[in-house]
Amino acid sequence: MPETTLSEQLPAGQTGTPVLEVSDLSAWYGEAQALRNVSLEVRVGEVVTLVGRNGAGKSTTLRSVMGLHRHISGNIRLDGQDITSRTAERRARAGIGWVPDDRGIYASLTVMENLTLPPVVDRDAAWSLERIFEHFPVLHTRRNFPGTKLSGGEQQMLAMARPLRMGAKMLLVDEASEGLAPVIVTQIGDIIREIKKSGVSVLLVEQNVNFASTVADRHYLLAEGEVVESLGNDEFQSRLEELLHHLGM
Ligand SMILES: Nc1ncnc2c1ncn2[C@@H]1O[C@H](COP(=O)(O)OP(=O)(O)OP(=O)(O)O)[C@@H](O)[C@H]1O
Ligand SMILES: [Mg+2]
Repeated sequence: MPETTLSEQLPAGQTGTPVLEVSDLSAWYGEAQALRNVSLEVRVGEVVTLVGRNGAGKSTTLRSVMGLHRHISGNIRLDGQDITSRTAERRARAGIGWVPDDRGIYASLTVMENLTLPPVVDRDAAWSLERIFEHFPVLHTRRNFPGTKLSGGEQQMLAMARPLRMGAKMLLVDEASEGLAPVIVTQIGDIIREIKKSGVSVLLVEQNVNFASTVADRHYLLAEGEVVESLGNDEFQSRLEELLHHLGM
């Protein structure tokens, strides 16, 4: 059997169409520049990672795309539309889903309330609760538990399920695997592959390059606020040792 290529897995007519295009993004905290001319793109149904050391600018890139960090220059497009001046709320309504590094679970609300409180932004794309529970069975088991009673892995599942429930088409995921047991990381990987199959695109920040290589199509390496390499997953895998060294891991 020949290997299936990404384009064969994509719905017809969507091959290679960019969903997210970031051009020449620079970002500052006060006087300090955190990003320098970062350019990247994510195509329909692609999983792309941003890899880099602590402080490289990974979270700042995601926060800038979400509109949560506004001291920036450059240009951000979603489905070809310039969204650079839009608020985070309008970007969410346009289909950008946010999975923050602290997971952003409302501690006093139940799993069910956490899932259903945010507005559905796209009825056709929104995952039904049935579908959510099929792919995240633990959220069904825990549906009446408050956020405070969830394990780290359960919180991560909930954080990822929430934007799918909203109907996001472009997920921004910051450090999905961090601090989780290997068995949970494997589950998160399965879910990311499932999300990809459904045509949703993912930009994933990862420090765990082994995990990154099991889920992603392509990778951008960030160092000191700049993209220093853009790699397909085959090249990424064949250079893993060198990249680990480069990342100081
Ligand atoms: N709120 C802030 N105020 C000032 N500087 C900040 C702030 N947040 C981040 N920075 C700085 O911006 C740079 C990029 O930080 P960022 O959090 O984007 O990196 P990161 O790649 O996500 O790192 P980590 O792997 O630790 O999460 C770093 O030099 C960091 O110190
Ligand atoms: Mg970060």
